[in-house]
Amino acid sequence: MKNELILILDFGGQYNQLIARRVRECNVYSEIVPYNISINKIKEKNPKGIIFTGGPASVFGKDAPKCTQEIFDLGIPVLGICYGMQLMTYILGGKVAKANKREYGTTDVKIDNSSPLFEGFNNVNGFLMSHTDYVDTVPEGFKNIGSTSSCPNAAMENAERKLYGIQFHPEVNHSINGTKVIENFLFNICNCKGDWVISSFVEDSIKMLKEKIGDKKALCALSGGVDSSVAAVLLSKAIGKNLTCIFLDHGLLRKNEGDEVEEIFKKQFDINLIRVNCKDRFLNKLSGITDPEQKRKIIGEEFIRVFEEEAKKIGTVDFLVQGTIYPDVIESGLGKSSVIKSHHNVGGLPDYVDFKEIVEPLRDLFKDEVRKTGLELGIPENLVFRQPFPGPGLAIRIIGEITDDKLNILKNADYIFREEIANANLHKSINQYFAVLTNLKSVGVMGDERTYDYTIALRAVETTDFMTGTWSKIPYDILEKVSSRIVNEVNHVNRVVYDITSKPPATIEWE
Ligand code: XMP
Repeated sequence: MKNELILILDFGGQYNQLIARRVRECNVYSEIVPYNISINKIKEKNPKGIIFTGGPASVFGKDAPKCTQEIFDLGIPVLGICYGMQLMTYILGGKVAKANKREYGTTDVKIDNSSPLFEGFNNVNGFLMSHTDYVDTVPEGFKNIGSTSSCPNAAMENAERKLYGIQFHPEVNHSINGTKVIENFLFNICNCKGDWVISSFVEDSIKMLKEKIGDKKALCALSGGVDSSVAAVLLSKAIGKNLTCIFLDHGLLRKNEGDEVEEIFKKQFDINLIRVNCKDRFLNKLSGITDPEQKRKIIGEEFIRVFEEEAKKIGTVDFLVQGTIYPDVIESGLGKSSVIKSHHNVGGLPDYVDFKEIVEPLRDLFKDEVRKTGLELGIPENLVFRQPFPGPGLAIRIIGEITDDKLNILKNADYIFREEIANANLHKSINQYFAVLTNLKSVGVMGDERTYDYTIALRAVETTDFMTGTWSKIPYDILEKVSSRIVNEVNHVNRVVYDITSKPPATIEWE
């Protein structure tokens, strides 16, 4: 079945992914493509509608990203958002003007609710404006359908040609009922049906993977994280025992995690799983190492070495399965931000494994869609909603040298913290929480005895993007319970502290 498609032309706006998500939330499949996609490619993709995103440029700029006029002659509805609206105006002969002052914030927009774009809206609505240039005169054939006190044309339409422009950003939460504007565009203007749902994605993917792979062999590196787990189960539903998963247990996972992964994939899904227990090998390599970047490097390299050895035992495979998801694909084209920590994921494997082709079954999905797919496939909730866990695992949560004893202390303390957060029913509202074994020892007293033991730090953050976050205001009585359980139940810990730093300036992990 061919899905209905909305193409989102990327003009560099910061909310582009949000636009794609909002469209998909309306059960219409969307794809973000570069603004200079060719007309032939657009025709080939045959979208039901096109959205131009916002962007930081001005249409007057020398290098401003532009599209050709032909796009408006295809007979496909177009919605231009912010810069997208200005560009549409500029190309179709209207007048864009430069304002002296930027209009920013949720602003009352007066709209004409007889337009199909604004069906169901009041006459005045709070939408997020964020622009300097504005549309002074709409192009011929267009009419004004919205304004603010400082922006004469905050929305415009050419109903006949199905071309629409809005100066505000409907995709962000600051715009009240913003998604409804997108929904109106999809259903009133593009005539979408809205039949893209995860269950059909799962069904179609399994069918497609079956056809593509047939009875050939595939190999998957399973980390126990959400993406690789969902990719593995999807593949196993398609090709059964022709899929082999290698799960590398480097001993740096959280308490019981290795066994849980084995249990789910071997028992529940009957997947061909090779669990490689190589804790000693990793601890040997890490012995005496205190520098966090060096720890990351050693673990990353050793991971590849072990995987390579195991893959060699299997021999050449036809397909290597990767859990790449949509944000990885669309972010990778943009400029690099400065490297604060070297991330270790399984992305480097292709250079070391003998395979013919890569298969990435989740390449088109956002994280929340990957989770929905996981639930649809019957993967347990605790795995599907697992909090992020760094590839180098607990190694970076032990400050200083890593030893087996320190690992055990951290695993037990972390387990207690997680258990109490779940008991307090906070596990869904706090996005990431864990214990850290600081390298600090201090004097304490237990019974009548002097102790000289470690300090455990607790970290808990609330965030949506993990790029910024605030420390979580966990109620004192819960912190007290966690602290008292840790010092009582975990040997060699006599002090617990709570990290009250947000990100920035701190990072989420301690390392
Ligand atoms: P920081 O500490 O930089 O972490 O604020 C941001 C988020 O990234 C996670 N993290 C990693 N995830 N591989 C990953 O897949 C890694 O090497 C890695 N290092 C940090 C961290 O847990 C947090 O969610």
